[in-house]
Amino acid sequence: MKISTILLAAGKSTRMRSKTPKFLHKLAGKPMILHSLASIKDYTDQKPVIIVGHQAQQLMDLVGEKAQYVEQKKQLGTGHAVIQCREQLEGKADLIIVIFGDMPLLEGKTISSLIECQKENNGPISLLTVIAEDPRGFGRIIRGNNGSVEAIVEEVDCTPEQRDINELNASVYCIEADWLWKNLIKIPVSPKGEYYLTDIVGIAHSQGLTIKANIIEQPLEAMGINTRVHLAEAEKIMRKRINTKWMDAGVTLLDPENTYIETGVIIGADTIIEANTHLHGNTTVGEDCLIGPSTVIKNSKIGDGCKVFMSVVEQAQMDDHSDIGPFGHLRKGAHLGKHVHMGNYGEVKNSYIGEGSKLGHFSYIGDAQIGKNVNIGAGTITCNYDGENKH
Ligand code: UD1
Ligand code: CA
Repeated sequence: MKISTILLAAGKSTRMRSKTPKFLHKLAGKPMILHSLASIKDYTDQKPVIIVGHQAQQLMDLVGEKAQYVEQKKQLGTGHAVIQCREQLEGKADLIIVIFGDMPLLEGKTISSLIECQKENNGPISLLTVIAEDPRGFGRIIRGNNGSVEAIVEEVDCTPEQRDINELNASVYCIEADWLWKNLIKIPVSPKGEYYLTDIVGIAHSQGLTIKANIIEQPLEAMGINTRVHLAEAEKIMRKRINTKWMDAGVTLLDPENTYIETGVIIGADTIIEANTHLHGNTTVGEDCLIGPSTVIKNSKIGDGCKVFMSVVEQAQMDDHSDIGPFGHLRKGAHLGKHVHMGNYGEVKNSYIGEGSKLGHFSYIGDAQIGKNVNIGAGTITCNYDGENKH
């Protein structure tokens, strides 16, 4: 069965009050839209179609070849956005998944279960819903007397009774492609001049067709990010997910609430991470290390049995059993060999320090190659600058 995905990301993100489109704001160090693209990979290998509009170029520059793009020139609503993909997708897929670019917490396995649900549905639509006390402005799910889904009503159009409904539209759909392309054009225009995708549910119901709804167990997974407050809430949930994964893999986190590990990081078992540690980018930390507290490591490779104590390590490498800190700084191209000890107030840039060497206090080693077992005295500087030129 061929499955295509449409990802809506044309809106203006007004409520973020930002120069940057909200889809590019980061969560655990990774732009929101890339989290969505990662979850798509779990259920289909077809390139998704991203609907772009406002600040389209910035988004396309970031995502590049990982997606195809369709422009929605005027933002006339979520239904109007999906129609724009007709030419691109008609006849190419059996099922269409529609998701929004501002739902970075949604997991691929949840979409997979929605696909399974639709495969067993004789009708054309399955969708995800959440049960939540705070409606967050979401559309309400209207069910008939027999419990079947009959319509989605947007909050602004709700009667007072409908407003009290606590089953909400997560806005994740799995739709039979042929039915979709035939029926999208039947969506009426709303009083605001928009075409709501949510209206396809009422259309299917009026044709006597079955709409299935899967209730998401974790309502926060469906959280749509509209404001910076939502962004911070989502960041916290994502942090918890990542940190739980590492603890389950055998890493000790002394204070998981205050440990910041980005998605691309890898950590070995029996490593202990203390509070206020930030591990960024493509960082690898080996086994049996002691990292932190108050440490930042970015795009670096740390071997086994290393200690990094209150220090900053960027684009650098530490071989097994080397240690740094407190207050050490490894910069781009710094490489500490095995068992190197670097004490307080040391900085190393673009240099190799050989196995067993020590630089205990107040040193700057730049653009140098240091051999094995060298003891670098306090206050030592290597320099390649004569006041005018670098050599
Ligand atoms: C939408 C749903 C609502 C659901 C909620 C869940 C509709 C009409 N409403 O409301 O039922 O509970 O999501 O988060 O679908 N977009 C475009 N082009 C447009 C309009 C929107 O690409 O013309 C994109 C936006 O960039 C955004 C997404 O579609 O990524 C959703 O738009 P938004 O205005 O945030 O819809 P909600 O009011 O959140
Ligand atoms: Ca939204």
